[in-house]
Amino acid sequence: MSETTVGAETKAFQPRIVAFFCNWCTYTAADLAGTARMTHAPNARVIRLMCSGRLDPQFVVSALSRGADGVLIGGCHPGDCHYQEGNYKALRRVVLLKRLLATLGIEGERVRLEWISASEGDRVQRVMNEMAEDLRRLGPLRLSEPPALFHALAAHAADGADAPVAAVTEAAS
Ligand code: FES
Repeated sequence: MSETTVGAETKAFQPRIVAFFCNWCTYTAADLAGTARMTHAPNARVIRLMCSGRLDPQFVVSALSRGADGVLIGGCHPGDCHYQEGNYKALRRVVLLKRLLATLGIEGERVRLEWISASEGDRVQRVMNEMAEDLRRLGPLRLSEPPALFHALAAHAADGADAPVAAVTEAAS
């Protein structure tokens, strides 16, 4: 493939982002960004969860294995979760999941967790643009055949901080 063709492909690459947003904060902020006509990269498909704590790591794995190049998770700021500790659970799960994905060679930038309150439409705009740019730089994930351990690892990550991190990481190697 010529350099020109490679360059053109890179330029044309539009990453696919699946965004899981908490109903009470980030989803509302995304709505606000829309009604305020704040333009941002049109790369994300948003899925509404009642709380970021509802995020099962399998959702992320499923999105990545079905063609997403990155997954964005948005939740209420620490202390503001409508279900008390859902966002802390989300944080623990995402940290663990990223460590597991790293063992499979999947870059950490492909999964991003952000705290965005209902009034921060501008932050939704900035984060979406940044993530699209990061993924453009990384290129397509092309994870058509997820490793066999992929789903098993996500199941472990669902247990959050209680998961036996060392054992799971060892299993992936
Ligand atoms: S309700 Fe928004 S993160 Fe829990």
